[in-house]
Amino acid sequence: MKNKRIEGLLALRKEALLGGGAKRVEDQHKKGKLTARERIDLLMDEGSFEEIGMFVQHRSADFGLDKQKFPGDGVITGRGTISGRPVVVFSQDFTVFGGSLSEAHAEKICRIMELALKLGVPIIGLNDSGGARIQEGVVSLGGYAEIFLRNTLASGVVPQISAVLGPCAGGAVYSPAITDFVFMVKGTSHMFVTGPNVVKTVTHEDVSFEDLGGALAHASKSGVAHFAMENEVECLEGIKKLLSYVPQNNIDDVPLVSTDDDVKREEIDLDDIVPENPNKPYDIKTVIRKVVDNGDFLEVHELYAQNLIVGFGRLGGRSVGIVANQPSVLAGVLDIESSLKGARFVRFCDAFNIPLIVFEDVPGFLPGTDQEWRGIIKHGAKLLYAFCEATVPRITVITRKAYGGAYDVMNSKHIRGDVNYAWPSAEIAVMGPKGAVEIIFRKEIEKSGDKEKALEEKVGEYREKFANPYIAAERGYIDEVIIPHETRPKLIRALSFLENKVGANPKKKHGNIPL
Ligand code: HXC
Repeated sequence: MKNKRIEGLLALRKEALLGGGAKRVEDQHKKGKLTARERIDLLMDEGSFEEIGMFVQHRSADFGLDKQKFPGDGVITGRGTISGRPVVVFSQDFTVFGGSLSEAHAEKICRIMELALKLGVPIIGLNDSGGARIQEGVVSLGGYAEIFLRNTLASGVVPQISAVLGPCAGGAVYSPAITDFVFMVKGTSHMFVTGPNVVKTVTHEDVSFEDLGGALAHASKSGVAHFAMENEVECLEGIKKLLSYVPQNNIDDVPLVSTDDDVKREEIDLDDIVPENPNKPYDIKTVIRKVVDNGDFLEVHELYAQNLIVGFGRLGGRSVGIVANQPSVLAGVLDIESSLKGARFVRFCDAFNIPLIVFEDVPGFLPGTDQEWRGIIKHGAKLLYAFCEATVPRITVITRKAYGGAYDVMNSKHIRGDVNYAWPSAEIAVMGPKGAVEIIFRKEIEKSGDKEKALEEKVGEYREKFANPYIAAERGYIDEVIIPHETRPKLIRALSFLENKVGANPKKKHGNIPL
């Protein structure tokens, strides 16, 4: 005999699984997008997803909404595992009211965020939404604000990862913006405060959705997106990979994986990687890949401010955050964008106990009116502040230039760098030799018969005296001058030595980072 009650439940479940119906699902696929449930299936370990609030519905009656109800109300929420680790996830269903956010929809998202805070697990948001549920008016705006508040309270407590997989416009952009990492997909994701039509009316600019707020625009120009992926499958894989480097919460240990890469591995090629000519570039990513386990480096913000490289790797199986000046882009100079990029990454690592490894080759801060008027002072100060306050294990390797204020900023000993190494090619000085002698020997050079020769001689003298790591080492600002090929084993031993580091800052409500 059939159990009618169970049959009733199964029928309700079936209805919920249909989302906005077959036609809208087909439209979603035609746009090159997966449905909310397909995304969850790809993201989570098979069979691990436990849905919460499958039958939640909106409570509105205006504009005929009382006749349009869909179980779940446009967002699928729940808990499950990714590579065996518990997470909570919400996935907006564009096939139901365009994934728009109603009061009930917002409550579902808030509920899993609270659960994540209580359990200390990461929050993953898959965004695909037309924004505020227009029919609900201010109630929907309130719902957004409730989410923003929880994003903020969860910041630095559990990792928050957002994927924008469709439209994300107006104030809705501020939830992903508060989270730690934003993934976008080329061609199908769009984020903007105001869309192309409003832009046209207000500024008379003609701009497409993709150019204004597509994945590449945000990954390379604004820096809002950390990752621009080719398609949704790659995007969901990317989230899993990123998650593998980060701990569950701010009191958890960083993930440790077994590695077959020898902790004593030496890389002889590193001995010759820095060119003889100090003005010649080399690729710092080669150095990073030769040092980390199995050459695996997950670069964050790959297309943005490429003069500074940030990302995750592992050393001896443990996750580390890597910050490195990139001599092959703008000579590795620090400018506004790279300072912002570095500061945010350093703060993420510090919040989640991920040790920092810094590779330094920096000629200084970028000069010019553009930088000064746009605030290189306050933005550069953010990177300085981020390093100064970080209490995680912090190791620096100066590969070549460490000039001026940038020497101080890039995790120097003076701002609590724990272990500071330099390669023999390091040049640690107030400024580069040419600039320095032009100031301190200006009169002498002007008076000399052959100015060029005099300049060259003085540059040689200066280089001989200051362009090396030994004066800093004499002072103890550098713990050890190491041979480049021993960098990996040195870093792994230092990390192991620092494993139980207890760092602290004075008690305060919060600092006042120069925003
Ligand atoms: C209710 C919405 C909706 C919304 C879309 N839909 N957006 N329903 N509230 N905000 C519904 C549509 O009526 C339609 O329903 C279905 O979703 C799919 O929408 P389409 O327009 O057919 O899809 P598409 O052509 O792909 O266009 C997608 C879109 C467009 C670009 C997102 O729908 C759009 O412009 N929507 C409005 C966006 C917007 O202005 N939102 C408010 C922004 S202000 P049917 O039944 O036909 O399937 C805001 C403030 C947040 O969000 C503030 C937070 C602080």
